[in-house]
Amino acid sequence: MSTPRRAIYAASLLLAIMTGVCLAETPHLGKPLDEAAVAAWDISILPDGTGLPKGSGTPAQGAPIYAEKCAMCHGENGKGGFAAALVSDAKIDGISASQKTIKNFIGDSTTIFDFIRRAMPFQAPRSLSDNEVYALTAYILAENKLIGANDVMNAETLPKVRMPNRDNFIIRFPDRI
Ligand code: HEC
Repeated sequence: MSTPRRAIYAASLLLAIMTGVCLAETPHLGKPLDEAAVAAWDISILPDGTGLPKGSGTPAQGAPIYAEKCAMCHGENGKGGFAAALVSDAKIDGISASQKTIKNFIGDSTTIFDFIRRAMPFQAPRSLSDNEVYALTAYILAENKLIGANDVMNAETLPKVRMPNRDNFIIRFPDRI
């Protein structure tokens, strides 16, 4: 056996022994999570709406929540302030992040729900109920004129909202969809 091959053989043997040792003697840290604990973290929503929770909301229900919990950063009626505008008709003609808005960039309406639920308000993420998130999503979509003022957003209706930029993304691995 040549020296490099011998070294590889020795390393593999050592790894096999170490793996055996590790499996046999775990440090017994932590504890198994029950289903409810996992559910609290399992909040990803797929583009087609898979994972959307029960509940619903309308633009009219979202407006006062927006004024109370969001306007301080995103400006009155979503026009922008300390944080980016959430309501805008601006066009996009480059890759600068500052040009990207919900209306001209986000490809799936469900992303808006997912993002608000997991990350907003910035100083208190995960503090909103699912109904509040539906209402805020409805409010932002209506202010952007992507849904009607009286449309109800829920697990069935939200995925059907077509975002204007939806067909302009280049799918890197189309065969994996
Ligand atoms: C303390 C300031 C603050 C508050 C309050 C706040 N946001 Fe934000 N928001 C931000 C910042 C900062 C970002 C950018 C975060 C990032 O890029 O990671 C952001 C990003 C967002 C985005 C993504 C925008 C985009 O174009 O991709 C949405 C949607 C959003 N916020 C909605 C809300 C809603 C709804 C509320 C009220 C419940 C809210 N935010 C409250 C600071 C805030």
